[in-house]
Order: sequence, then C-alpha cells, then structure tokens
Amino acid sequence: MIFPTSENGIMPEKILVTTALPYANGSIHLGHVLEGIQADIWVRFQRAIGNTCYFFCADDTHGTPIMLAATKAGVTPDEFIQKVHKEHFTDLTAFGIEYNNYYTTNSPENKELAEEIYLKLKEKGNITARNIEQTYCEHDKMFLPDRFIKGTCPKCGAKEQYGDSCEVCGATYDPTDLKEPHCAICGNVPVLKESKHLFFRLQDYQNELKTWIESKDRLVEGAKKKILEWFGSGLKEWDISRDGPYFGFQIPGEENKYFYVWLDAPIGYMAASKKYFENNPDEFNELWKGDNSRIVHFIGKDILYFHGLFWPAMLMGAEFNTPTKLHVHGFMTVGGEKMSKSRGTFINASTFAKYNDTEHFRYYMAARLGPGMDDVDISFEDFLSRVNSDLIGNLVNIVSRVSTSLLDKLDRTLGTLDKDGIQLLELLISKKEEIQNHYEDKQYHRVIREITSLGDSVNKYVNDRAPWVSIKTDPEETRKVITVALNAARILFTYLYPVVPNATKRLYTMLGIEEEPGFHLLKKHIENIKIGGYVSLSNRPNEKSIQAMIDDTKAEYEKANQANEKTNKTKQANGVQTKMEEKEEGIISIEDLTKVELRVGLIEEANHVEGADKLIQVTVNLGEKGKKNVFAGIKSAYSPEDLVGLKVVVVANLKPRKMKFGMSEAMLLASGNAETLSLFVPHKNANPGDLLK
Ligand code: 2FM
Ligand code: ZN
Repeated sequence: MIFPTSENGIMPEKILVTTALPYANGSIHLGHVLEGIQADIWVRFQRAIGNTCYFFCADDTHGTPIMLAATKAGVTPDEFIQKVHKEHFTDLTAFGIEYNNYYTTNSPENKELAEEIYLKLKEKGNITARNIEQTYCEHDKMFLPDRFIKGTCPKCGAKEQYGDSCEVCGATYDPTDLKEPHCAICGNVPVLKESKHLFFRLQDYQNELKTWIESKDRLVEGAKKKILEWFGSGLKEWDISRDGPYFGFQIPGEENKYFYVWLDAPIGYMAASKKYFENNPDEFNELWKGDNSRIVHFIGKDILYFHGLFWPAMLMGAEFNTPTKLHVHGFMTVGGEKMSKSRGTFINASTFAKYNDTEHFRYYMAARLGPGMDDVDISFEDFLSRVNSDLIGNLVNIVSRVSTSLLDKLDRTLGTLDKDGIQLLELLISKKEEIQNHYEDKQYHRVIREITSLGDSVNKYVNDRAPWVSIKTDPEETRKVITVALNAARILFTYLYPVVPNATKRLYTMLGIEEEPGFHLLKKHIENIKIGGYVSLSNRPNEKSIQAMIDDTKAEYEKANQANEKTNKTKQANGVQTKMEEKEEGIISIEDLTKVELRVGLIEEANHVEGADKLIQVTVNLGEKGKKNVFAGIKSAYSPEDLVGLKVVVVANLKPRKMKFGMSEAMLLASGNAETLSLFVPHKNANPGDLLK
C-alpha cells in the first residue's frame, strides 16, 4: 500500500468506518470494547497519515426483545433506549473510542433511508410476499421470536430451553420441535398462526455478490471462504417483515407490518453519517455514492452473514456504494474459555473502567490482535505482565528515566542531536512503511512487536551511555543523550498514538509540541529548547484492582441471580408470569377476566379426608361439564353433612392439581379466614353448570 505524504503526491482518501451497533438492551462488555478499540486504532491511524476518516456507530434499538424489556421496566421503548444510549456512549468513550457520531437506529434519518432502500428494492421487483405460519401467543397477542418460546429440548430433554437451540446439548431446531412449548412471557402454550410476510430476494444478486466477495482485499481469506460456503446451497429470500406489535419502523404501503430489526440496523450506519453531515449533504453523497471513498466495517464473525450478503445486496439494489472492506474478528475468550459471569470473567466495560486505566486495555488488545477471525484469548495475568514489562517497563521508561531529576539538573533544556543520535532516530523512522502497513492490515500485534523492539534499541542506547553516571562529570554529553532519548520516545509514541492516544498527548505536552499527533511529525526533531515539567505518561497497572474487578463482577452476578430466583418464585406462585403494568397497577383486561370460567356447581357428595385437618372432599356436578372432584380447605366452617345439596360457585377451568390425597379438579369460591369462612351460593334459581358472567 502506498500512503499519502506531502512528497509522493498521493491524495488523501475519504474513509467511513463503523463498528457493529450494540443492541440497546444490554450493557457494553469487554467484547464490544474489543471491537471498538480495534476500529478506533484504525481510524486514528488513518488520520495520523493524513486521510480523512469518519467513525460512526449507534445503538441498535428495534425489535421484540427491546420492546418487552421496556414493558418490563415500566417505561416506553423510547425512554428505555434513551437511557441505554447514554450508558453505552459513556462506557465506550471511556476507552478512548471517539466517534464522529454515536447515534440511534430509531432516528428520522434511519426511517427515511430504510423506506428509500426498501421502495427501491420493491421497484426493482426484489420484494415478494407470501403467507407463512409462525408461533403466536394468544395471550400476549403477538408472534413470538424464537428466543421467546421455551420448552423441553427435543434432543436431550433439558427443560426451559429456547426455541432455536439448546444451551445444554447445543442442538439447534425449530421452535415447533420443542416439547411442552410455552411462551416465555406469559407461560401459555403458543399456537401456529398464519400471516403475510415480505421477503427480499437475495438470489437476485447472486452473481453480483459473488464478484463482490471475490474482489481483492475485501475480506480476509477465512471470511471469504465462509461466505462462499453459503453460496453452495444457493441464496434464498430473506424475511424482512414482522407483524405488530413490534418496536420498529412501519413498512410503507402495508398494514401493521414492520421492518425486521436486521433490515434497518445496518442502514443505521448510513443514518449516523447522514445526521453528522446534515449541513454538508455533499460529503454524505461522496461517501455513499462517490467514486473515491472507502467504506470499512468492523464486525464479529457471528454477524458476517448479514454484512457479507444481505447488506451489500441491499446497497447494490438501492444503488449506494458497497463496503470496501469487512474487518472480521473472533470472539473474546478469557483463559481459553467463553467469558463467564459466574467465574467473574464476563466483564462489563464500566466495571473495567472503574478499576483500571482503560488505555492499558487498548495497549493489551493491540498486542493481542491480528487480522484473522480467530478468537482473541486474553488473561489478566498476561494483561498485567505485558503492560508492566512492555508499555511501562520499556516504552514509558525511556521517558521517565531521563526526564525526571536528570533533566531537572540540566534546567530541563535539550541540546543538539549528534551523529550517533541521528543514526538511531533514522533507524526508528525507517520502520515507518512497515508499521503503516501493519496498521492498515490490522496486524496490530506486529505494530506492537516492532515498536517494542525499537524501544529495546533505545533503552540499550541509554544504558550504554549511562547518563545517570555522566551527569556527574559531563553534563553536556548527558544533555545530548537525553535529547536523543526524548526524540526517540517522541517517534515511538507517535507510532503508538493510535493505540495509546492519551500517553502520546501527555508526551507531546511535556515536549511543547502543539500539533495533533501524526506521522508527518516523525522527522520533526526537537533540539535546544526548554521543555515542560515531568509528566507521567502512564502508571503501572495494579494486581489488586484486577482482583477487585473480578470480585465485583462475581458479586453483580450473584445479585442478579438472586433477583432472578425471586422473580421465578413469584412466577411459580402466580402460576404464570404477570405483565409489568398489570403487576404495578393491579388492573386486568376484560379478556383476562373471561379466562376464568366460573360456574354453578351442585355438591352431590362430601366426605372427611383422613389425615387432613383443613380439607373436605366434595364431588360437584357442573351440568354439561360433568362432575369434578375437589379438595376444599373449608373444614373450619363446614362439615360434610352441611354441604350435600348446596349449590356453590366453582372455578371450573383450573388446571387439575395433584394433592397428597388425590387430584383436585376445580376450586370452590369462598371468602374470609378460618372463623369467618363462607361459601357463595346463588341467590335465586341457578342450574348446575350455569356460567357466571
Ligand atoms: O449482533 C448485534 O449485536 C447487532 N445489534 C449488530 C448490528 S450491526 C449492524 F448491522 F447494524
Ligand atoms: Zn404469552
């Protein structure tokens, strides 16, 4: 790659960079941060070499889970996503991830663009409609996404598994394969219901997509191979509509149909830039329609399908530029295992930031990151050791060892670079191309390796000349050595700026350099000037803070677990989960009332139950509904002989309950406590089986 410089006449480029949009219903964790950091490093690098690079992200706000989470929290979806947006923005930017705009998919710009793209695809005949059958909850009056259907795994029999896959045996299946399926919201058994859905005909773009994928450098080999595998079975149409109630954008020209969240999510990339360029629409058009721009997405391998197929096809159809590059990364693992809440390794960004210097994490991530899709395994011991030995012990040390008391003794004034010194600085500058190429290709671990190895050379230069000894006899020689060391540090931290921007800026401030760090400054040596007071670029990380962070994470998990258990117990006691608004206001709908079948029952038989001091066994005649056996807790107020021939009010459709003494198939309505207990009898003539309404 040839990079722009003032000498080579290569024109700077315009680049638009994005990271995947986090869902607005969960906290930002280190996995999100891993992606944000790698993109931010890349963006800062592009700017450091003179390119114009914009960085956008947003919250992904639509879909059923967010709608239901808002209901559960007792707020509107809008209020819910606004609160989450603030948290997400704070958490991500705490790691030095700087966006031009961190927006939301629930924006007017996104609505407009989603409609524009959809209508264009429709006009081209890429949208079809047909009826499909899906799982529906009659209680909640909604179609249930797979994750909202639970039941017993058809393969291993594990209970309470999701509708798409079993977390115990890993099997994947259709929701209709689940045994004892029930709605995860209300607990009722769902039904299958038909409705019209709209589909995007991905197959219409099969050839164009193939050429797109195979064109040079768009994807790393592993990702290309994966996408081409999907071509093997032929591309199929993609369901882009969902029926209401749904939190999202209504589909123009359709009734009660909404865009599926994954349709408008990537359009959110465009919308964030549209908002940013609201006063400069030409720049938006240049990026998304012009010939001289690059669009670069950083994504995890789990969403490659969307970004490698649907998204470019949508853009092709709607006649926008397609992504130039997909940087696809693997998952973050800790100590070789999936991040785990119970082990304290599923760490939220805010918890990490509370206990640690977030720039250390940027450094560590860079040291661990390569271009491929392999998982990125981290360990906190490794984190401590690399930051301690490489960042602090090697690179920061170059500055701290010469610019504290030693430089104070020389009135903090630099001298002139000598031949030896210039030779060393030239060696450092000669690595520029190599380092730039590594940054460009996201070979950050190579960038770090190169810079730390140059750091070793600089430290050796200082060690060989031992300025702490020469200061006693030859202050001017010492001044030269310090001047070389600080210029060397300036070059190394300029290289490192995309990774540790704050440390670099601190050094620039100390050295009196006012410009933004950039690679054009590499050769701008500083000599014969008085520099500022010593500033620590970065402090050593603390082992105790790591432990405190892990303990905090575990405690959070315990707390959430206990709260969950409590909710589950309440759910069990209630038989089904009660919706938030109902719980809060104690209000039920008329539909809820009609669910309870109250009937007149004639008690035909009544008996003592041996071994039970509160129960009487009765047989109630419910007319056409037949006879039911009931164990009623009314012994404190009635004896069997009082009951026979009595007409009472019975809950006739209660799920039969197995009791110690047998099945109880209904319930008699009564009021009061042991002393005041009273059954309810009809005031006038009523026949067994009559419905109360
Ligand atoms: O997988 C996810 O977390 C999605 N919210 C990513 C969306 S990326 C983009 F397409 F918007
Ligand atoms: Zn339900």
